[in-house]
Amino acid sequence: MGAGKTTLGLEVARRLGRTFVDLDREIEQDVRRTIPEIFAERGEVEFRVLEREAALRTLHETRPQVVALGGGAVTSPAIRTALREHALTVYVEVEPDVAWERARDRGRPLAQEEGAFRTLYEERQPLYREAADATARGLDDVLLAAAGIDVALGALESLGNLVPGEGPVALVADAHVAGIHGMDAQLALGGRLASTHTVAGKGADDLERLWRTLALDRGGTVVALGGGTATDVAGFAAATYMRGVEWVTVPTSLVGQVDAAIGGKTAVDLPEAKNLVGAFHWPVRTVVDPALLVTLPEAERLNGMAEVVKTGLLAGEPLWELADEELVRRCAAYKAALCLRDPHDRGPRHALNLGHTFGHALEAASGYELPHGRAVALGLLAALRLSGRETAPVEEVLRPEPARVDRDRAWQALLRDKKGRLRIVLLGDDGAREEELPEADVRAALDDLIAG
Ligand SMILES: NC(=O)c1ccc[n+]([C@@H]2O[C@H](COP(=O)([O-])OP(=O)(O)OC[C@H]3O[C@@H](n4cnc5c(N)ncnc54)[C@H](O)[C@@H]3O)[C@@H](O)[C@H]2O)c1
Ligand SMILES: [Zn+2]
Repeated sequence: MGAGKTTLGLEVARRLGRTFVDLDREIEQDVRRTIPEIFAERGEVEFRVLEREAALRTLHETRPQVVALGGGAVTSPAIRTALREHALTVYVEVEPDVAWERARDRGRPLAQEEGAFRTLYEERQPLYREAADATARGLDDVLLAAAGIDVALGALESLGNLVPGEGPVALVADAHVAGIHGMDAQLALGGRLASTHTVAGKGADDLERLWRTLALDRGGTVVALGGGTATDVAGFAAATYMRGVEWVTVPTSLVGQVDAAIGGKTAVDLPEAKNLVGAFHWPVRTVVDPALLVTLPEAERLNGMAEVVKTGLLAGEPLWELADEELVRRCAAYKAALCLRDPHDRGPRHALNLGHTFGHALEAASGYELPHGRAVALGLLAALRLSGRETAPVEEVLRPEPARVDRDRAWQALLRDKKGRLRIVLLGDDGAREEELPEADVRAALDDLIAG
């Protein structure tokens, strides 16, 4: 009571593109009475019966939805069982003082008197904790929980507890990162660690080496440790090995923590094209430890900041100004929600391509000498200019420098990438939209990013 479940639930449902069900409203509709009327006319015992019926009916629906449960629903063992079997349950934590201030004077039958309210609050705590898969203080916590993402300083040390199940684990680590954080990961995995593997890149050869050495059965789990390169190839190995085993990803670069390890896309590069072969294979857990970023070289950090600025522009908030832990949490939650909403990249998720049409063209034209983050920084400039918006955040945070690439080569690469249709992600007042633009405008915007 008073945790703000209805407001929060509505917003979670909006962000995830699910329908929202407020269980109290369902009950009221079932019997055409308000909750206070039900309590007054029939008493709490009968209310709990109605609540159980409504909750079980809702929880047995197969269509994914966001449900706000009444504060007392978890007192029912039947509802607790249904939650365990059919739902991801998030406990919305609130201080008793705040809860009382919100719930009092609202005619709620169980919030009439402060002493009794506080006793109820205390009594229910253990039940909430037992029923909850995750706890949350606000919107981003719920979105992260829904995506199976843990963000916490020092999370790597808890890795052993965060890998679900009890089966063996194969640790696949970036060769360089293995030397820095590999031992901590091994210690955290303890007795479950069956083998360790290092990867240098994400080519077909790296993938084949993993396929041939993993030696897991179907109950095993791949744990990926590294930047986007290592997590992409380890994830694709997990997606395909034995027709698919579970995997947990532990991103160690800023790109990994805010982008590559979020959303379930895995892939390897072939000489013909980057990310040409891959799969959607959502990790069972994503363990994000922002403390790992302290060893990241500055140039790699800047690469990640390009995705942070992109995310902040999409979210309409200067997320790039936040300290690491909060910055990573907010960006990961933003991408996670979009990806849960559109897991197979058919619509809303296209927003994440902001700046990337231009960025990819410049990268390709440089023969992949230009780092992705530097190319995306330039691409964001072009996208903002075409959207008629301020470019200040990009200029100030990312300081992009004109690319030294051949103009025609860049243009041809852009046309190839777009397969003839110049649909570009633009930024409007209420987020991103895709728009088909005239060739001359797109070409001019690309030209402006190139030196000389
Ligand atoms: N799957 C997706 O949705 C997705 C999204 C974006 C990018 N990606 C992929 O991610 C890759 C790029 O990822 P990246 O930018 O993380 O590059 P990366 O994985 O190659 O890492 C960059 C460098 O940083 C080092 N490093 C990583 N973490 C470190 C740490 N904590 N301390 C010190 N050094 C560290 C690595 O060893 C490497 O040398 C690309 O292949 C791209 O295609 C995938
Ligand atoms: Zn990118």
